[in-house]
Amino acid sequence: MAQSLDDRIVELVKGNGSISSIDIHNELVKNTNDESQLSIETIESRLRALGPDPGKDALKFTKTAVDKYFLTAEGEAILASGSSDLLLAKILQGNEEPVEQTTLKQELSKTFGAVDDRALNAIMGRLRKKQAISTEKQQEEADGKKIVKIFVSKTEKFTAAFDSVVSESDALRATLESVAKSNTLPSHITAKDFKRDYSKMIAKKPTTVYNVTVGPNIDTYNVVLETELSADDMLSGKWQDMTFKPLNFGAEGAVPDHGALHPLMKVRTEYRNILTNMGFQEMPTDHYVESSFWNFDTLFQPQQHPARDEHDTFFMKTPALAGTDVAQPDYFSSVQQTHEHGLGHIKGAETDVECQQSRGYEYEWSAMESRKNIMRTHTTAVSARMLHAIGQKYVATGEFEPVKLFSIDRVFRNETIDATHLAEFHQVEGFVCGRGLHIGHLMGIIREFFTKLGMPEVSFKPAYNPYTEPSMEIFAFHPGLNKYIEVGNSGVFRPEMLRPMGLPADVTVVAWGLSLERPTMIKCGIDKIRKLVGHKLDLDMVANDPVCRMGMN
Ligand code: PHE
Repeated sequence: MAQSLDDRIVELVKGNGSISSIDIHNELVKNTNDESQLSIETIESRLRALGPDPGKDALKFTKTAVDKYFLTAEGEAILASGSSDLLLAKILQGNEEPVEQTTLKQELSKTFGAVDDRALNAIMGRLRKKQAISTEKQQEEADGKKIVKIFVSKTEKFTAAFDSVVSESDALRATLESVAKSNTLPSHITAKDFKRDYSKMIAKKPTTVYNVTVGPNIDTYNVVLETELSADDMLSGKWQDMTFKPLNFGAEGAVPDHGALHPLMKVRTEYRNILTNMGFQEMPTDHYVESSFWNFDTLFQPQQHPARDEHDTFFMKTPALAGTDVAQPDYFSSVQQTHEHGLGHIKGAETDVECQQSRGYEYEWSAMESRKNIMRTHTTAVSARMLHAIGQKYVATGEFEPVKLFSIDRVFRNETIDATHLAEFHQVEGFVCGRGLHIGHLMGIIREFFTKLGMPEVSFKPAYNPYTEPSMEIFAFHPGLNKYIEVGNSGVFRPEMLRPMGLPADVTVVAWGLSLERPTMIKCGIDKIRKLVGHKLDLDMVANDPVCRMGMN
């Protein structure tokens, strides 16, 4: 069987101990009929395959940069037909009459490609130096214009000089031949000579030479390595002659198919972490369907309020109404009285200025309206249930403990759906319930929260909510977008909300709410809500979305 190229290369390296890629090429070309098949590039690529990392480790090599030399078209022409000096001399030799210079130029151009005046002058200069030629000017008139023609003729020393031109040409051809074969410059040509005399015939090309030596697998590189060992191999004893492929402990395994958390869930986790670190506890949020009572009435939101309209709120068809037990009877009636007349009915109101000043909305409150079931429009309904429980505990035991609570869950609004709004979204809501809390505390908490989110520049704008007074919209400076964006709503819950729940007069509650989608969209660089939720969601985005670290982008 014919030896493979790899085998022949390995044999040369083994035989020589150390050998350059150029010598390998020369050696192999010597023994090949079809030289054109075997380029130095092919050899180099085989050397890399046989070399270390990621090769077979049969060879080792170091690389050195060297200049290689090749004949230019002019060099090839001289190698084939002799020097330009010789060609010019030959033309003159065959002519007894003087030859015009332009004719000489044309003749030379046939062999060497466009020969210009400068090149011709150089050739003639050398022949003149040998006293082999002479020139003569003649003036002629053609079409009324004077032109000068130069004629070149042989001298009596021409024949003697001719021989020296021939031997110079032969020497030059020998040099060129050796360059063409070895791609190196003969040692007698200095860099200066090269630049002056040879740069048109020989081109210099910087290349890399591989200096090759024997590698650890020189004898086993072509052994087929076994990757499997069977019971039969073991029983028959064949395993003793098998060569096994070493285990590759550096190999990376295939990435297994895996689920991925939706970006919203990651941002939720991050919010949870921040809030828990600030000492907040999470509230139970499992009431997607809520009564109007807990969603609106307990929040002192009047029954004529536009938010309670079908345009803003989804009303349940079945069951359309919550039971009469939607709340304890005295709380239910306390909420009614507060809506109608304010806090005058609260125990101890006679001496409580705040209660006496509270007037209510002075309309006829409908129990039926408050029992209408809806999809909760905000998580403040969740907060209301919690605060009511805290108030009831105080009424029962006389004990009150300040708390910080938060919730993150879904809310629903019957809004026009557009690029950034859906009919359902998530709210992040929190409140602090304690004695003597005021708007300063609220601003402080919000600042701290947004600082932890990476948006320390927060500003506030007065707003209106039926259940808070004062109320503030929250704006935060987003460094990525380079502007203030509205991020949430906040306020101090009204006594009209808290006192009927049973909370003591000196307890206040500061609270705020924001959406989860907004910061998630900004974080993921998503401009359309449909790309974040729904069937247009990009699953690759979900799989590749990095772990959420707010404020650390
Ligand atoms: N419920 C308000 C909203 O939906 C947010 C909020 C919560 C405002 C608590 C004030 C206090 O936007």
